[in-house]
Amino acid sequence: MAKVVVGKTSEIPQGKMSHTTAAGKEILVANVDGSYYAINDICNHAGAELHEGELAGNEITCPWHGAKWDASTGNLISFPQKLKGLESYKVIVENETVYVDV
Ligand code: FES
Repeated sequence: MAKVVVGKTSEIPQGKMSHTTAAGKEILVANVDGSYYAINDICNHAGAELHEGELAGNEITCPWHGAKWDASTGNLISFPQKLKGLESYKVIVENETVYVDV
């Protein structure tokens, strides 16, 4: 496991997403009502970058075909096809800095 800086808390306000690359993985970080969550940034339907989609509550809508993902778990919420859940990662906040543990 490696602790990787994503950014300052002020750079990821409530209702916003950010992303980073760490350990060869594309990682999305979402601020859901003041809590930070990290999941894989790549939609496993056809490869869209989910941080370019919409975040409403804990629900991320994929910008390409509209799959809805749970930012807090990486699980699929809705899509006509059954898709595997996305990997999720531990988030650590220290001294107003957001880290992911990958
Ligand atoms: S790439 Fe995300 S729903 Fe198709």
